[in-house]
Amino acid sequence: MGKLAKRVEEIAPFHVMAILDKAKMLQAKGRDVIHLEVGEPDFVAESSVAEAGIDAIQKHNTGYTSATGLPELKRAIALHYQTKYKTTVAPERIVVTPGASGALILLSSLMVDSGNNVLMPDPCYPCNRHFLVQVGAEAKLIKTDSETQFAIDLDDVETHWDDKTTGLWLASPSNPTGAVLDRSYLEGALEKVEELGGHLMVDEIYQGLVYEGEDMTALSISEDIFVINSFSKYFAMTGWRLGWIVVPEWAIEGATKLAQNLFISAPTVSQYAAIQALQPAVLEECEKRRQTLDKRRLFLLAGLARLGLPVVAPAQGAFYVFVDVSHITDNAMSWCLGLLEEYYVALTPGDDFGFHNAQKYVRFAYTCDEDRLAEALFRIEQYMNREK
Ligand SMILES: Cc1ncc(COP(=O)(O)O)c(C=O)c1O
Repeated sequence: MGKLAKRVEEIAPFHVMAILDKAKMLQAKGRDVIHLEVGEPDFVAESSVAEAGIDAIQKHNTGYTSATGLPELKRAIALHYQTKYKTTVAPERIVVTPGASGALILLSSLMVDSGNNVLMPDPCYPCNRHFLVQVGAEAKLIKTDSETQFAIDLDDVETHWDDKTTGLWLASPSNPTGAVLDRSYLEGALEKVEELGGHLMVDEIYQGLVYEGEDMTALSISEDIFVINSFSKYFAMTGWRLGWIVVPEWAIEGATKLAQNLFISAPTVSQYAAIQALQPAVLEECEKRRQTLDKRRLFLLAGLARLGLPVVAPAQGAFYVFVDVSHITDNAMSWCLGLLEEYYVALTPGDDFGFHNAQKYVRFAYTCDEDRLAEALFRIEQYMNREK
């Protein structure tokens, strides 16, 4: 038997995998499982985007690109920031990566030395912790609660900062809560981090999917923020594995060296498709989808209110609703497993996103249509009544 590196032990598997495995088993037995656990849109890339990908293959545009991405794509991303977010971003500051995941791996290598730590909220996107483990560093999670809408109290940044801390990582809209950080909060966060001499990263992978509050980019506040983004969510291109990071001017050279060494380049076919994804007609379609998601969101929120299930974070963006089930169970994970086994509805337990009060919460993803949401709510009601 081979011996794995020690760091592998520090990486937790997704708890939702247990749910997914069970869901697959039930489906194989012919059960009608409703998937509200999956963090990916039920849409696919708009058809002209797929065609641009096919065209790239047919034209044999399939070799490596330059390490930081096709210049046309970087220009198209910069134009998108300019037109939609009124923010000037020099294309040279954009590094195209294999998904936001690639961008987060690059950022970890770029800004965090082994033995360092980075502050982030508990709960947050779990892989962030593990990207840091990869570089011999660690995440320092700061507890958050519904009272602060699951945003870190900025005074806590100072108390948790130590001589090994190199930065603060945030996400807006947030996975798992759907909450949006507003401009003044981000300005405050930047001020704090600058005082403390670290870097600020804002993960904007759900950018565009905002229903309440300002759909913005942290880049409009300062050029000294690292911003992560992706074609996965708003553009419904999860499997195309394409994202990007915007870095400050002073970090371009370092980021380029890392991009060359870590990935050589991001998937070429996907890059050609992504140029098309940023064209006005496709953006119009994305906006229609956002409106569809908003309708589902309101439908789900009304249904949860009817069932007496408290939504604990403002569901302003992404496609998630974060719900407190602690009045029903003291273990959200086993509650989710029971719901799946008996009523075939899959949710993600809070344990996947952190530790603080994690067993109290579940995440709903409204990545299916209203009929399915209605059916899911009906089954959840039955499950709750059955448990009484
Ligand atoms: C907050 C957040 N960041 C990053 C990612 C990684 O996304 P991808 O690598 O598909 O672009 C996800 C995926 O769900 C996410 O929710």
